[in-house]
Amino acid sequence: MNPSLTETPTTDLIQLGKVYVETYGCQMNEYDTGIVKELFRKEKYETTESVEDSDIIFLNTCAVRENAHAKIYGRLQSLGYLKKKNPNLVIGVLGCMAQNLGEDLFHQELPLDLIVGPDNYRTLPELIQKIRGGERDVQLTRLSRTETYDELEPKVVNGIQAFVTIMRGCNNFCTFCVVPYTRGRERSREPGSIITEIQQLEAMGVKQITLLGQNVNSYSFESTDFCSLVEKILAETTVERVRFTSPHPKDFPDHLISLMAKEERFSSQIHMPLQAGSSKVLRDMKRSYTKEEYLDLVASIQSRIPDIGITSDIIVGFPGETEEEFQETLEVVKKVKFDMSYMFKYSEREGTIAKRKFIDDVPEEVKSKRLIELVELQTKISLEKNQSKIGATFSVLVENTSKKSKLEFCGRSHCGRMIVFPVPEGSSTDPENWIGKTVQVLIESATSATLKGKLVG
Ligand code: 5AD
Ligand code: SF4
Repeated sequence: MNPSLTETPTTDLIQLGKVYVETYGCQMNEYDTGIVKELFRKEKYETTESVEDSDIIFLNTCAVRENAHAKIYGRLQSLGYLKKKNPNLVIGVLGCMAQNLGEDLFHQELPLDLIVGPDNYRTLPELIQKIRGGERDVQLTRLSRTETYDELEPKVVNGIQAFVTIMRGCNNFCTFCVVPYTRGRERSREPGSIITEIQQLEAMGVKQITLLGQNVNSYSFESTDFCSLVEKILAETTVERVRFTSPHPKDFPDHLISLMAKEERFSSQIHMPLQAGSSKVLRDMKRSYTKEEYLDLVASIQSRIPDIGITSDIIVGFPGETEEEFQETLEVVKKVKFDMSYMFKYSEREGTIAKRKFIDDVPEEVKSKRLIELVELQTKISLEKNQSKIGATFSVLVENTSKKSKLEFCGRSHCGRMIVFPVPEGSSTDPENWIGKTVQVLIESATSATLKGKLVG
């Protein structure tokens, strides 16, 4: 018998078990799930997409708003039956909620063995062995000033698109936000490791990468800032489109705007969280810009990149927000005309400055009413903006078949707008022939979320 076959690692794999990870929250968490899976693969564990079939279950969690926590409590309870079926099953909570609540999570009668924060994933295999050795209630939630998981290069690919985390953590301490406490201080990843990961992704057929970071434009590694990193990526890889999320308005220098205007492969889309439109509320949020400064920055961007796609995050009902101050938010939304916004009711978070300093005094009904008003306004603006594109032609990088029909494909324009088009009569409907190609689409109709058109050229 071939000796190499006798050494097959199958028995190891069976003994070590199958790892299943469920992801909640932001794209950074999706990337971190990739890191965890890669780590276990390197340790010769199997990964599985089936929770029923797994020996280790991780929930990679979010803590940004209260409902994020509620979801995880519910999910853990619902996993109790698997633990009864298989007493050796290990269940762990990872991510921001683990860091935020720590050992309190063990005191809630939940089927839970392990709590590990975002900077401690390297120790996971070791901690699993401890639990298997009989240790109970294992926890590691130590924040790091240096961990960037450089060499793990998890290659988190979705079709032709992939995420690449370039920096972790946040130093801004916006008063409403739990992230500086759950993800720790800002630290940037070494440029060489970022380039290597992107080159590997390219070899896998990836055409579009999204650079991720809590404050992605605050990237700084020795003499490399965000702009020089993007220039390096454009020079040293052939990836067709480079996107990024989320920037902070305080770190948006002129040369970044120029680079976006100049570089065809650097996407003209900016997700620029406004959070609130009143300078008083912004000051209480510690956002470090005023309403006027935000509007000036947007005006400067819009004048130099006329077709720029701008999206935002907005919170209503921050402590002390008056009706007039909320109206200011609506005014800013009308002036900027965001293509789309993620809109939230303020949710008080444990450990934040706002929780210590302010009373959560805007009644729930008022928060709900303001949210509805804001969503209605944003939907109207999104529709108007999209309708104004009817008759225009966009270059579209095809990402997938459309959700509604296998006879339609969808992709994004350079400015980040989602565009759907039907396969022309007589053409192949095989996704292989479309996904990853750049096509020209003439826009014929629009909803608030999508542009639809036909192929031209
Ligand atoms: N309440 C409501 N929304 C919040 N966000 C962050 N913290 C809170 C909170 N305590 C929103 C912000 C941020 C987005 C990711 O989540 O708008 O940009
Ligand atoms: Fe939170 Fe503000 Fe940091 Fe964004 S910049 S992660 S909102 S503290």
